[in-house]
Amino acid sequence: MAKDKDYLFKIISKRIADTDFSGYTFQYPPLFSWKAKDAESKVGDAWEKALSVKNNHLGIYVHVPFCKQRCTYCRYFSEELNDQGELDRYLNLLKKETNLLKKYFKNQKIHSLYIGGGTPAILDLDQLKKLFDHLYDSFDLSVCKQTVFEGNPDFLSLTKLRLLKKYKVNRLTIGVQSLDQKVINLVNRFQTSGSFQKCIKNARKVGIESINIDLMVGLPQQDSSSFLKTLEEVISLGPDMIHLHPFYPTNLTIFSKENKKVTQPEIIKREKMSHVGQLILQKNGYKENEFDANSKSKADVNIQLADAMEYNSSFLGLGPGAVSHVAGRLRYVNANSIAGYEKSLNDNSLPVLSMCELNSKDDMIYFVISCLRYGKVDKKKFKKIFNKNIDDIFSKEIAYLARREKLENTEDFLLPKFSDLGDYSILSKYFYDKKFIAYCEKEFSVEKIKEDGELYF
Ligand SMILES: C[S@@+](CC[C@H](N)C(=O)[O-])C[C@H]1O[C@@H](n2cnc3c(N)ncnc32)[C@H](O)[C@@H]1O
Ligand code: SF4
Repeated sequence: MAKDKDYLFKIISKRIADTDFSGYTFQYPPLFSWKAKDAESKVGDAWEKALSVKNNHLGIYVHVPFCKQRCTYCRYFSEELNDQGELDRYLNLLKKETNLLKKYFKNQKIHSLYIGGGTPAILDLDQLKKLFDHLYDSFDLSVCKQTVFEGNPDFLSLTKLRLLKKYKVNRLTIGVQSLDQKVINLVNRFQTSGSFQKCIKNARKVGIESINIDLMVGLPQQDSSSFLKTLEEVISLGPDMIHLHPFYPTNLTIFSKENKKVTQPEIIKREKMSHVGQLILQKNGYKENEFDANSKSKADVNIQLADAMEYNSSFLGLGPGAVSHVAGRLRYVNANSIAGYEKSLNDNSLPVLSMCELNSKDDMIYFVISCLRYGKVDKKKFKKIFNKNIDDIFSKEIAYLARREKLENTEDFLLPKFSDLGDYSILSKYFYDKKFIAYCEKEFSVEKIKEDGELYF
């Protein structure tokens, strides 16, 4: 292995960021390499086999791909909502999709439910009730440990929050991004002044246990005083977790589609602001629990993500653009357009866009790269899940990164020594399968991409 691989891995990182509309950028193999062939027929078969035995950490993710308007910085899949009736049609389709799949989940207890988007809070009260009733009717959620709801403050009235509490939502993640109305307007975000402050107070009032706030760093015209003012105000309201998202303008954003670029001085400023933000959070009792999420207690982490990492658990993704992971067998993604999703379901077919079959090594790689992102790989856990010793499977990779002083290999753990998220993105790819790396080397023209500006992650 040579250091020139670093550049190829940077390019792969960019390719992932520019193509993975699910935002699930550390999944392996990356979404850009998946294929459409025979996808639909393989999905049912994979779930049937995987769920013929008991699964302890199953997750369900529901994607609600609608927003009132599209924020120009956003890299996730959603479409602008034209009328509220579109959501009724979406819910009917979601029901169809669930009905095609629920037979496989009959005797399975679901451990985590995550409703994300888009803007799930754009559903009105009746529609939210329909969504939850349908999920509760279709799956066994009786011992579900965590139910997460992604909420935009302007759509979360006190009555809606009460309803969420009734349906056992115990973690609310509120997208705020910035409290500077100038920045908010500039990025075409629908968020009115004072809505967040009201929303967090109401969420506390109805008794939602854990509240996470998403903030962005380095948005257009967001200077450090604007960012720090937002951060201080958010901290003063005492959420349980604060997630700082440095702005990465992937090709999927309107920002990039309008040919705008983040300049080198802006990148430096963004990184400095992120660093200062982390220090301020630490001073205020928030501990870093992932590379960029900070919480007061361990109980506030996203359990679905933690389960995938700790137990290589399977999760079912429902809705347009949702990703599913059938551990040891398959990863697949649903159609990333409402029209494509609708067309398949109207033909009574699963709305699968593409998939990749997993061999036993793929899941090991996925496990290692996701654990590295969280700061350590537990060797005993690896042995328990895969019945193999990690030091035997990845001996060369571990020795190589240890030589570069980027990994400490202790008796029980692999401890990454990455300098930042960019370093992680590049170096964790040394665990990728050699054949996959060779495929990427052939696929991408390194020289061409060299001219292409920032290689973000
Ligand atoms: C699924 S998204 C949106 C959730 C919700 N609809 C909202 O607007 O708050 C989750 C988070 O990703 C972050 N995000 C979106 N686009 C991004 C980008 N281009 N770079 C970095 N973070 C981004 C935002 O902080 C956002 O809250
Ligand atoms: S940030 Fe949220 S509200 Fe804005 S476009 Fe993305 S998903 Fe929609």
